[in-house]
Amino acid sequence: MKIEGSTFVVTGGTGGIGGATAKMLVGLGASVALFDVVPPETGDKFASEVEASGSGKAKALYHKVDITDSDAVRDAVARVVDTLGNLKGVVHCAGVAIKRPWTNDVAESIPNFKKMLDINVTGTFIVNAHIADAINKPLNHPDGTDKHGPFWTTDEERGVIVNFASAAANPYARVLSYGPGKTAVIGITKAMSDFLGPSGIRVCSISPSIVVSAMTANFSPYFSNDLKQHATFPRVPLTADQVTPTIKYIIENVALNGIDIPVDGGWRLVSAKPGNGGGADPRELAPGLE
Ligand SMILES: NC(=O)c1ccc[n+]([C@@H]2O[C@H](COP(=O)([O-])OP(=O)(O)OC[C@H]3O[C@@H](n4cnc5c(N)ncnc54)[C@H](O)[C@@H]3O)[C@@H](O)[C@H]2O)c1
Repeated sequence: MKIEGSTFVVTGGTGGIGGATAKMLVGLGASVALFDVVPPETGDKFASEVEASGSGKAKALYHKVDITDSDAVRDAVARVVDTLGNLKGVVHCAGVAIKRPWTNDVAESIPNFKKMLDINVTGTFIVNAHIADAINKPLNHPDGTDKHGPFWTTDEERGVIVNFASAAANPYARVLSYGPGKTAVIGITKAMSDFLGPSGIRVCSISPSIVVSAMTANFSPYFSNDLKQHATFPRVPLTADQVTPTIKYIIENVALNGIDIPVDGGWRLVSAKPGNGGGADPRELAPGLE
């Protein structure tokens, strides 16, 4: 997909990876619509910064949208089509990682599990669905009436969706709720890729290790220690700018579809105690990642 002149929605667009993505896309000549839940003043200010970082032609607009609210996402995507036009896809970065002190009581995790499923999993399905429907709309309903007409197929590339899973999608002991949710994101990516292929819309995901952002600011040192011990190279947390080239690669490479790309320095997550020879139980290093 050609980036210059296209429009992309960036969910979590004021966050660490989303913000860096928005700047990269505007720098390459695409307009962006940032979907996030921060107050409008904060989002509008950030969108102005993003727009100013480009060459002048590309626009950046903020929409306060909760991605778990299907109607709100549908309406916001429709506004993006009306105001910016030429919608070609989404880089879906909105997500949460809940932290709390560990206990031995697994049942205490149930509310957090439900919340993360809602935002990280159902939210991913909602965003993918409304972006795809908006891209397909002019072709699915040519006369505005034939809502359930025959499916159509095309060889034209018409859209691209980039989701965010995680190295934790291959769950290990210390990501009890977040990990399984990210496994589901990879499942949604593959299922959407299959379903949307005939419409010329590709769907891939990225699985980073630890990226420096608000999400990781209060992580237990367990994770960065594990990265030092079990990554191949580099053995340090990544910056968001080390993740965005893979987003560009997916958008521009028509042959990539239905895959998850690890961006993780070869981190192989294990559930061993630090040092493999004992030491503190990671759950003592609160706050942990739920
Ligand atoms: N940072 C990491 O180490 C890391 C590692 C692997 C995967 N990821 C994934 O990458 C993505 C981006 O993470 P990040 O590091 O930029 O995090 P971040 O916290 O900096 O940004 C996430 C953004 O999502 C927004 N958001 C949260 N709930 C929302 C909702 N219901 N509706 C709309 N927006 C919402 C937040 O306001 C925030 O701006 C997430 O899906 C995350 O799970 C991050």
